[in-house]
Amino acid sequence: MKANKQQTTVNSCRMPAGHSLWLGIETSCDETSAAIVRDGHEALSNIIASQVDIHRRFGGVVPEIASRQHLELVNGVVMEALQAAAVELDDLTGIAVTNGPGLVGALVVGIATAKAMAFAAGLPLLGINHMAGHIYANFLQLPQPEFPFICLVVSGGHTDIVYMPEHLSFEVLGRTRDDAAGEVFDKTARAMGLGYPGGPVIDRLAGKGDPEAINFPKAWLEENSYDFSFSGLKTAVLRYFQSNPDVPPEDIAASFQRAVVDVLAERAFRACDDKGVERLMLAGGVAVNSELRQRFVSEAEQRGIELHIPAPILCTDNAAMIASVAYFRYLRGESDTLSLDADANLPL
Ligand code: KG4
Ligand code: ZN
Repeated sequence: MKANKQQTTVNSCRMPAGHSLWLGIETSCDETSAAIVRDGHEALSNIIASQVDIHRRFGGVVPEIASRQHLELVNGVVMEALQAAAVELDDLTGIAVTNGPGLVGALVVGIATAKAMAFAAGLPLLGINHMAGHIYANFLQLPQPEFPFICLVVSGGHTDIVYMPEHLSFEVLGRTRDDAAGEVFDKTARAMGLGYPGGPVIDRLAGKGDPEAINFPKAWLEENSYDFSFSGLKTAVLRYFQSNPDVPPEDIAASFQRAVVDVLAERAFRACDDKGVERLMLAGGVAVNSELRQRFVSEAEQRGIELHIPAPILCTDNAAMIASVAYFRYLRGESDTLSLDADANLPL
């Protein structure tokens, strides 16, 4: 079966001298992606080959299949990213690659590719944290966010509230104690027999349901905590679904989604209040969710908070966000050696 390719933001002019051009490579999960980013904020190309159709039949990402697919796809995807941006290896400032967190067997494919290219072309190499990448997707759009800000990072593996006083300084104020937000969407959808990946399916279904039909439990945890817990909600939805076969799945999906969004919004806006910060960002695949986006837009407006949300294609896994982080790290004089390795649990 073929991976499904997408491309965003292409500009095919040749580069004037003095610009910084990073090639980013991302293979941490089930998207093989490569991108060319100019000066940390302009994606000249962003090629994403998604394996979702291949993993769908297994109801989730199968690590061995993901690694094998990355191996088959990565060279072609990198070539396509260079061609689409009309950039040659010699034009590059450096090569950036995700080195964690993620699936080790998947990460090493991107890392080996980046190392070989950096070695062959004599270019600087930078290993980039995938979660930092998600946050930096916000720098690929105008207006560029200013500091300090709070970022709510919601993906398939992570749910973090991050305070950033300046570039590359990440203070994690809270995180999930069990399932990540994306994971709870995926697991709930699977339990309801809705298919994979669960986020987009529940999002669509919820649009036709009543979010106030069922009052699912929300784990508010300790009064001042920014942590999350979603496993109780997941179990409650599953029990409800099994014992109420006549309730429309649209209402269950909408009520479940409302419970997740309520908790995410409460934590993120409270973090802004507590830190005295007037800028808030969303990041990660769950930030594609329509109710989440709407809620944050309306609440930010009410509270006078400046909100940044990446375009959907930049919320889910992509290599442009990886190249963006590399630009800012390289400006600080950072680079890695060819001994760069994958770290499945790399912290922010
Ligand atoms: O950031 P991402 O592409 O990969 C990880 O780093 O995990 O996030 C993938 C997650 C999946 O759990 C997927 O179900 C979720 O993002 N997702 C959504 C939506 N689109 C993707 N969750 C809720 N609503 C969506 N529309
Ligand atoms: Zn991700």
